[in-house]
Parts: sequence; structure tokens; C-alpha cells
Amino acid sequence: MNDALGSPQSALLLGGTSEIARATLRALIARRCRTVVLAGRDKASLDEAAAEARSEGATTVETIAFDAQDVAGQGRLVDEVFDRHGDIDLVLVAAGVLGDQEAVEKDPAAVGEIVTTNFTGPAAAMLACGNRLRRQGHGVLVVLSSVAGERTRRANFVYGSSKAGLDAFAQGLASSLVGSGARVLIVRPGFVRTRMTAGMSPAPMATTADEVAQVIVRGLEKGAEVVWAPPPLRWVMVVLRHLPRALFRRMPA
Ligand SMILES: NC(=O)c1ccc[n+]([C@@H]2O[C@H](COP(=O)([O-])OP(=O)(O)OC[C@H]3O[C@@H](n4cnc5c(N)ncnc54)[C@H](OP(=O)(O)O)[C@@H]3O)[C@@H](O)[C@H]2O)c1
Repeated sequence: MNDALGSPQSALLLGGTSEIARATLRALIARRCRTVVLAGRDKASLDEAAAEARSEGATTVETIAFDAQDVAGQGRLVDEVFDRHGDIDLVLVAAGVLGDQEAVEKDPAAVGEIVTTNFTGPAAAMLACGNRLRRQGHGVLVVLSSVAGERTRRANFVYGSSKAGLDAFAQGLASSLVGSGARVLIVRPGFVRTRMTAGMSPAPMATTADEVAQVIVRGLEKGAEVVWAPPPLRWVMVVLRHLPRALFRRMPA
């Protein structure tokens, strides 16, 4: 249950090794979050994230195996975590891959891995989390979407479309939770300097994982439904979404 000041005391991170997830967790722990479940694929990286969480002040820290590719297994995983802890105040959906657009265009079968990791797997987990949050009557599901999903570009439409699906799904789930006491916060970062974008030239208005984390905690405090990181990207995307197609296609990739 959120503490007296409305801050989450327990969190489940699906993609607990993500740099944005870890930065968000540090910000949550600084606001008194004490129970943490880190879900991910790589045991060593999870252990490292768990050690960080403990050193920041979390008192109950658990790591569990989670693979977004296992769509059928998401419901069981989510139920086990909620059953074990009784109450989860915040779920962060952070798992995602950028993928190699050029490679996928040459090997169309590879599109499934990106779409499953970014959309289908998280969607199954989000439905399961939505059901549990609705049942407990409180809690927030924070979803790392992307501005790439607001209008897909030639250079990365595979990733962009998977995020568009995730974002639309999260919007619908948010509507389904109205009146239940639970809610959804959709986060749309632009370019964030993390290992996901390592080696790429930063796009205009590039941010860091810690800056995204601050946008998330401010959004949580305000009860926002959608936030952009950095916030002014919201207005950039209003323009880009409405740009005539011919003009949009002439923009730099
Ligand atoms: N960086 C950006 O510019 C940016 C911008 C907008 C949105 N986002 C979104 O923000 C989220 C976090 O990204 P990040 O920047 O923090 O990058 P990151 O550090 O690379 O995090 C990606 C996370 O996804 C996990 N993951 C990948 N495939 C998985 C699978 N099959 N099953 C479970 N977990 C899987 C990774 O786990 P492993 O440790 O096992 O690889 C890692 O925890 C992603 O959803 C990303 O799309 C990022």
C-alpha cells in the first residue's frame, strides 16, 4: 500500500536490469519504496541491480526470471509475485529491444522477436498486472513507451510500430481501470543515453536515464496519465504528428 504521503512502498520491475528502470528505482527508493522485485533474463545483471537497490535503502529485494518472449508464462509470473507479496504498489514495464531494422528487413522472420519483446510479451504481463491491481483496488502500472511510436519513421518503423502497439494497449488498459483505484502512467521518452542507444549519435533533446526517472516520479506525484521525457517533447510531437506526410518523409532519419 502507498505510504501516508502517497509514495509506492513496493515495486515490480519487468526488465529490472534496464538502465531507465534502475534509475527509476533509485528515485523510488529515495521516496521510501522498500520492497522490490526485479524481473529479468540475466541472473548476474539482476544480482547487480539487486545489490544497488539494497545499498540505496530497499529492505526486501527479490530477483525472478522473466523473459518477454514467453507470452504464455506472463500471467503465472505476475500472479506468483502478487500472491507472494500480497500487495504491489507500482509495476514498471521496461523490457524492450531496439533491434536492427536493416537486418530485420533482410530477414523478415526476425520481426517476431522485436514485436514479441516490445509488445506481445509486455501486453500479456500488463493484462495480468491490470487484473491484480484492479482486484487490490490501488496501484500504478508505469509503461515505457517511446516517441518512436507516435509516428513511425522509415529508419526504425519495426521498433516504432511495436511501441505504438504497446502505447495503444496501455491507453486501453488505462481506460479499463478507471474507477478501480488503479491506474496507468505511459512514459514516452525521446533519445535516452543508455546501453540501448550506445554508439548512436544523440538525437535533439537527448536525455539520461536519471532525467527520465525524474519525469516518471513527477508524473506519479501529479497523477499524470502520459508524460514525455523531456517534457517539451510533447509539443514537438504534436507538430511532428500533424506534419504532412511528404514533409515528414524529408526529415532526417
Ligand atoms: N534508450 C532510449 O533511447 C529509449 C527511448 C524510449 C524508450 N525506451 C524504452 O525504455 C525501456 C528501457 O530501455 P533502456 O534505455 O533502459 O535500455 P536497456 O538498459 O537496454 O534496457 C532494456 C531492458 O529490456 C530487457 N530485455 C530485452 N529483451 C528482453 C526479453 N526478451 N525479456 C525480458 N527482458 C528483456 C533487457 O534485459 P537484459 O539485461 O537481459 O538484456 C533490459 O533490462 C525499453 O522498453 C525501451 O524501448 C528507451
